[in-house]
Amino acid sequence: MESHSERLKRIRKLALLLTVLSFMVVLISAYIRLNGAGLGCAAWPECYGQLLAGSPHPHTGAVRILHRLVASVSLLLGFYIAWQCQRPSSIQPVTGYAASILALMLLLTFVGLFSSDPHRVWTSFLNILGGLGLVSLSWLIVVAAGPAASRPMPPHHDSVLRGGLVALVLTIALGALIGARFAATACMSTPSCAGVWWPVAEGWGALNPFARVNAPAVAGDAGGVALHLLHRYCAAAAALLLGIAGARALRDAGTRVVGRWILALLAVEVVLGSLTVASGFSLWLGVAHSVTAALLLAAVLDLSATRRAA
Ligand code: HEM
Repeated sequence: MESHSERLKRIRKLALLLTVLSFMVVLISAYIRLNGAGLGCAAWPECYGQLLAGSPHPHTGAVRILHRLVASVSLLLGFYIAWQCQRPSSIQPVTGYAASILALMLLLTFVGLFSSDPHRVWTSFLNILGGLGLVSLSWLIVVAAGPAASRPMPPHHDSVLRGGLVALVLTIALGALIGARFAATACMSTPSCAGVWWPVAEGWGALNPFARVNAPAVAGDAGGVALHLLHRYCAAAAALLLGIAGARALRDAGTRVVGRWILALLAVEVVLGSLTVASGFSLWLGVAHSVTAALLLAAVLDLSATRRAA
């Protein structure tokens, strides 16, 4: 008969495999999406957003098949883990995370039915957020099924971390909107968008994820500029708050490793975002920026979950 700790160890291994597969899904999707959008394509920026004009998707069939294969194996593994968390008795909080993963996977399968039309902003938007959510939730199972961590911390530390998490989620949602609205070309400079530092009134409508786009944003487009600027301001807030939370985590033996990861990933992510713009939107820098966001979100949720458990 398998003991409780052996069962947790087995679930942890399965969740680790699911984290790796989810990360691969995020990586391959980012490549397909950004390559399809025309990030860093030859004859840039004229070739950007050709998909919207009805041009065929430039990524190869092999990449698409790999994406489907990895996503399908992840779905099966998600079902298996949810089942293993339930039987013979439910283990909390891993069962809750496993149920959330399944719900998210089913939502993404539904979104996939509509994603062949690049004019719909909401499909790419939800795909980006959902992929990052899968990496985070599967990693949370790994953490929750592992040896108990961390000693208690004073409560005021949590509000900085919570604020940082909110700023991070907003940054990610705004970045996803830049990609989903084909708005990279609206702002090709840093730190301001060609001297503009704050969105003008007509730019705020770009926050609506249910809009349709018919063409990529031209340089200086009010909506695109709003998204770029808000993305950068939220990133600055996230970097400040999570920088403090990460530095505080270094003081505690139980959270030192995750604190180091948060600080390193924050620095890498901000540099990658800035280099993506400075390079004239290199495809590989864009892909790296997208996958680093997944790792950063997972690390910050890991620290939040460890604090809550303390
Ligand atoms: C905490 C820091 C940051 C996080 C978590 C973050 C996250 C993201 C995410 C998730 C995306 C969507 C990627 C995709 O479409 O696959 C994105 C897009 C983007 N980010 Fe960031 N970002 C951060 C900081 C920055 C900074 C500082 C800049 C530039 C100064 C920047 C510039 C961009 C640009 C230009 C895009 C659009 C690329 C595209 O998808 O077409 N980011 N970001």
